[in-house]
Amino acid sequence: MQSINVDLKERSYEIKIASNSWQRLAATLVKVLPPGKVLLVSDEHVWSHYGSCVESALKDSYTVVPVIITPGEASKTLAEADRLYTVAIEAGLDRSNAVIALGGGVVGDLAGFVAATYLRGVPFVQIPTTLLAQVDSSVGGKVAVNHRLGKNLIGAFYQPKLVWIELDTLQTLPPREFMAGAAEVVKYGAILSTDFITLLEEKWEGFIQQDKSVLQRIIATCCNLKAQVVAEDERETGRRAILNFGHTLGHALEAATSFQYYLHGEAVLAGMVMAVGIAKKLALLSAAEAERLLNLFARVGIKPAPPDLPEEDVLAALKQDKKRMGEETVFILPTAVGEVVIYRHVAREIIVEVLLKYLQGKEGSLLALAD
Ligand code: NAD
Ligand code: GLY
Repeated sequence: MQSINVDLKERSYEIKIASNSWQRLAATLVKVLPPGKVLLVSDEHVWSHYGSCVESALKDSYTVVPVIITPGEASKTLAEADRLYTVAIEAGLDRSNAVIALGGGVVGDLAGFVAATYLRGVPFVQIPTTLLAQVDSSVGGKVAVNHRLGKNLIGAFYQPKLVWIELDTLQTLPPREFMAGAAEVVKYGAILSTDFITLLEEKWEGFIQQDKSVLQRIIATCCNLKAQVVAEDERETGRRAILNFGHTLGHALEAATSFQYYLHGEAVLAGMVMAVGIAKKLALLSAAEAERLLNLFARVGIKPAPPDLPEEDVLAALKQDKKRMGEETVFILPTAVGEVVIYRHVAREIIVEVLLKYLQGKEGSLLALAD
């Protein structure tokens, strides 16, 4: 079992990565969670695959109170949080009891939000089961629910006591979900590490075939890179914003398509391609470095924009984001492979030019897209 420490002083915790690990879960959990009740939150898909394994792994040490949500973003609401509070109250969970999230980012964000707020905060553990959740959403303590006016608008920074990554869970993950997570994986290389980009280039086939040792090495590297950024800037007052590479235009694409067309990672990948295009236009990035990044993005596979998506809709969504931030639209732009800057002054014409290339279907030739 591999262990990675997230160093946040009194809020520090371990990320454990292993396969065939359910029998070892309780022995580690008892070190961070007192015995008693646990609210075990999952969704219907994940529960059908892993509910009984996890429940039986925990039952000798804890009284498990399962609560199962409908899969998907529509469950990440205050109404669903309210249902979870009700289950917790009716089961008599007290302040010493814990919430455990078993699932993807939707389950993790919702369960974490409930843990952060129930009785002003109870211990929380993440057992992420999507690639995206294993490399991103389960690490770093961002928890949230959506509001009808926007995604993740109600939330907190609330660190878990433990993140338990069971690699075997990825075997049942639909391939499209796996590749959406792969977009977040390449993001870490693009923003933080040339060595990691080289590893991904060399081991790509093993990664997507889920070769166990390659998968573990890649997921552990992502967790390590994210842990370092979070340790430096837990509450995103500065550097943590680099984790949002690809998210400015990616989020605008998601919003302009009512969160129905893209998986989050797919939109982020399109956003990263466009960020490379913007960086090239601004002469921040050389053609050779851009090509190297784009070739790797192409291996994940860029999703074409929906036919006839008006650029005004995407630009309006960008403006909305800006209004929410109370400042200029922030772009994270690459300056080399493994390096980015936080950039606030991209001219509208450049954004429109690069966006139009993507919307007009030039994604078939990624290199042309970033010209
Ligand atoms: P998800 O939780 O919706 O899971 C995707 C689908 O895969 C669901 O249908 C789920 O039931 C299914 N699934 C999950 N694990 C499975 C498994 N092992 N086998 C079979 N099916 C499985 O999606 P996601 O991509 O994991 O998370 C997206 C959410 O994460 C969004 O709400 C996003 O806002 C949030 N997010 C949060 C952070 C953060 O830092 N907190 C970062 C990135 C994304
Ligand atoms: N997913 C971005 C962050 O955790 O900051």
